[in-house]
Order: sequence, then C-alpha cells, then structure tokens
Amino acid sequence: LGGFRATPAPMKPCRVTRAMCDPPADPSRVPWWERGVIYQIYPRSFQDSDGNGVGDLNGIGRRLDYLVELGIDAIWLSPVFPSPMADFGYDVSDYIDIDPLFGSLDDFDRLLAAAHERGLKLMLDFVPNHSSDRHPWFIESRSSRDNPKRDWYIWRDPAPDGGPPNNWISDFGGSSWEWDEATGQFYLHAFLKEQPDLNWRNPEVRAAMMDVLRFWFDRGVDGFRIDVLWHCIKAEGLPDNPVNPDFRPEMGEKLRVLQTHSTHQPECQEMAADFRQLADNYGERLLVGEIVLPLDQLITYYGRERPGVHLPFNFQLVEAPWDAAILRQLIADYEATLPPGGWPNWVIASHDYPRIAAKLGEAQARVAAMLLLTLRGTPTLYQGDELGIGRVDIPPDRVRDPKELREPGIGLSRDPSRTPMAWDGSPHAGFSNADPWLPLHDDWRTRNVAAQEENSGSMLSLYRDLLRLRRSEPALSIGSFQLAGSADYVLAYERRYGESRILIALNLTGTERPISVPPGQLLLSTLGTAPPSGWLRPDEGVILRLGAR
Ligand code: NOJ
Repeated sequence: LGGFRATPAPMKPCRVTRAMCDPPADPSRVPWWERGVIYQIYPRSFQDSDGNGVGDLNGIGRRLDYLVELGIDAIWLSPVFPSPMADFGYDVSDYIDIDPLFGSLDDFDRLLAAAHERGLKLMLDFVPNHSSDRHPWFIESRSSRDNPKRDWYIWRDPAPDGGPPNNWISDFGGSSWEWDEATGQFYLHAFLKEQPDLNWRNPEVRAAMMDVLRFWFDRGVDGFRIDVLWHCIKAEGLPDNPVNPDFRPEMGEKLRVLQTHSTHQPECQEMAADFRQLADNYGERLLVGEIVLPLDQLITYYGRERPGVHLPFNFQLVEAPWDAAILRQLIADYEATLPPGGWPNWVIASHDYPRIAAKLGEAQARVAAMLLLTLRGTPTLYQGDELGIGRVDIPPDRVRDPKELREPGIGLSRDPSRTPMAWDGSPHAGFSNADPWLPLHDDWRTRNVAAQEENSGSMLSLYRDLLRLRRSEPALSIGSFQLAGSADYVLAYERRYGESRILIALNLTGTERPISVPPGQLLLSTLGTAPPSGWLRPDEGVILRLGAR
C-alpha cells in the first residue's frame, strides 16, 4: 500500500448550515418527486415494437416491468409529438398529438395507464422555445407579413448591409437568422433553421402554449421537462451579443458570442412562474426546467416573488472535473446557494451529453452511480447508463445528429449517447427486428440487460442495489446532508434521518486511499465485498451505516 501521502483526516462538518440541509419535519408531506428517481427515456432508442428500427410507445409499454424492477419512480420521455425529426422530435409540428412513428394518442393513454398501474409517474418533454417550421402556426406566420400569426414568431428586417438583423449564433452553428425570400424578412432560430423561435412576448402564443400544458395535464401526465427554458425570451430590441474573448473553434461556433441578450431574461422566470401556477392547479405535478447557466443564475429559476419550476436541472456534474476536492466544493456551493425550500437535483448524463462510462471508464462509472444516487436531491438517470454503455464509434455513413452534421469532427456528436438499448443477445439486441436507426454499442452481446441480470457484479445489479437501498433508507432519499472528511481523492458525506446515519465514501481514483471513519456496517460497496478497514480500494465507493436505525 506504499506510495500515498494523503493522511486520513478527521470527520469535519461542511460549511453548509444545518438549516439548509435539515430533513422535513413531516416525511409524509414529502412530494413524490423529492423522494423519487427520474429515468430519462430517449424513445427512438428504447424498444421498437413494430419492426422499423425506431423505438415507440408500445415498445416502452413492454419494458415497464424492467423499470419497476430497476427501482425508478418516474419516466421522462424525450419528445414523442408529431415532428419532421430534423432534431429528432425537438422540432414539434403538433404539440397535442403523437407522431405515428411512436404510435397514437390511444397508445399514449394506454402507456400512461400502464405506468400508473405500476406506480410509475410519466413526464413529457415540453418544447416551448421553438416549433418545427412545419408547424401550421409557422406555415401561417411565414405566409405573409400581415398574417395574424406573423408575430407568433420573431421576424425582422435585414440589417442596413442586407445581412442578418444581429450577430446571434445558433447553438448548432451559423447565424441564428434565416432569410425568407417570399416575405423579405429574416426569422430567428436558436437551433436549426427548421426550428423557428416562438415569440413568447406575444400573449396569444403564451395562451396557446398554456393550452398545450392543460391538454396533457388533463390526460393525466405527471409533469414536464421543459426544453431550453432559459432561451425562451430575448432582450427587447434584440441587441448584438458581446463577442466571447475566450472563444476557441473547438468549442463549437455558438460560443463565438456570449448569449447575454438572446437568453436568460427576467421574463423567462415569469414564464416559469406561470407554468408553475398552472401545474399547481393540478396537484402534485412536477416541472423540471432545462437550464444551462452558472449556479447564481440557475437558482433564480426556483422562483423569486413567485415559485418557478420545482427543479431547475443541475448539470454541474456533467462538466466538472472528476476530482474529489472540486466536486466537494461544487456540492457545498450548490447546497449553500439553494434558496429556502429549493430542492436539489443532480444529472450526470443525458441524450445531449457523453455517457458516464465513456467519460470516466467503467470502474469510475460505478462510483458515479453511487454518487448520483446518494447525494441529497432528485437524481435523473439516463437510459443505458445502468448498463455502463461506454464509448461508441459511429461510422461516418451512420451519423444522424444534426449538430454533428453541421459542425463535424469537433467532438460534439450526440449520436454516441443515443444508440439503442440492448436487452439481450438476440439479433439487434432485442431492441428491434430490423437494423436500428443508430448502431448498437460494440459489446452489446455481453453488455445487455439479460446478461447483466444474471451477474450480481454487473453495473445493472449495482444500480438495482443502489435504488433498492435508497428506497428503503429515508436518510438516502430525504435525509439531511453533510460533507465529511477532507482527504484528497476521497469524497465523503453523511446523510441523516432521525436516528439513522449513513456515510458515503467515494474513492475517485484508481489507487487505494486511506479513509478515517467511525466504525460502521457496510451496506454496499461498488466492488461487492467489504474493503479493508481504514482503506478504500481503487475505484471503490462504499455506503456505511453509522448510527442505529
Ligand atoms: C435541448 C435538447 O435536450 C436537445 O436535444 C435539443 O437539440 C435542443 N434543446 C433544442 O430543442
């Protein structure tokens, strides 16, 4: 064990005050989404039921028992609405129907009922910032300058030089403005030109979109993940964005300017508050806002004068360096910055970001699973991470992501995170009878649900164990949180509920590390067996019970 110099440090309380992380006085009043775990399904890639190589709602229905067995509480479906699929459903051409590729409204109702029968919540993806350019609203809007829906989107005359009205850059590269020859104006699109931005300053747009939420809430959906909420309102007058002094081409062209005027206007929080008010009329429904902003800005979406979204997605772990000291600080800062009553949440991966195992390797992906499922706050898991799907190389002729097609070769492709689930060792991994729309990961013959179910040391078994433990231990789901220890390389914290004290210690490195903890009972190790006393083995995370139950 020679070679380290890190000395075990005594347990030390974090600088987060007790008041901030005290558990609720009355646990029966804790809403489902504070206790629960969200699981993101990317419907194109979960389960195909009709043999076209693309997943669908009936396919998801077939796999609900898998999700119950896994131990999650709520499903969030990426968009399933009618769409030309320029951005795979994030270009909606009808907000109140289901794309035939995924099924029908009847299929949806059946899926919702089947989920509810099993005690699972079902959330949809609401895409308010932009519609598809095939949406009837946009078709009308672009039909003439005096069409009543002209102002439903953001149209402007050219700049004096005939170019775009300002310097804004699409998140997928290129100008955010598209010239419309027929009516002689530009329209704004924060993403693809096939995704024109709606004008949320127009009360008719707001009313129409609130009706969309009502439509789905009335059908019984349990909540929404709200796409790019911080993008929805632009600064009055649409001034140029400041040039980014730190821009480097490998960042992707969108970072050429800072999105000061094109995003995060105070009115975005007003929108969030309006959505919240509507959701609250329906009882315990959940709103999760997609917001990619620095912490001090992110937390404003919890609401100021009025409540905002329940959970502004916290993506900090997605990009943070995998380093105990850095994560410790990040967690402390987040806990300390949350507004009173603001419930934390954590995300490590999604359909937009690299897979956990691709980024950290399989051994640390196990530690990351333990982190995600033991931090204070609602975790969101992404389909396939529970199998430890790692790096996937997409052959050039199979690239589908419009982002990669527009800015190829700089590592922005989202395809590797969107490949199909592997269910078993049968052809196409039990995902489909046909060649899937994206290739499977290379090792799918061994890395699939059936194979991992058989193996108590698999990633899937670890996720199941973690979820089971979390469900049976209120300390892990709703308990208080306190950072512990201060050793480098090991991230440690304690969760408490009533008399129950649980310590989590995570070795974020591939080398043995000493730890100093009071004696406790091992509840789970990412390596399956108990570590030697006073040490964590390479890539090991442990959960220990310290107090009496
Ligand atoms: C965020 C979504 O997660 C992403 O997949 C999509 O491309 C953009 N918003 C545009 O809707």
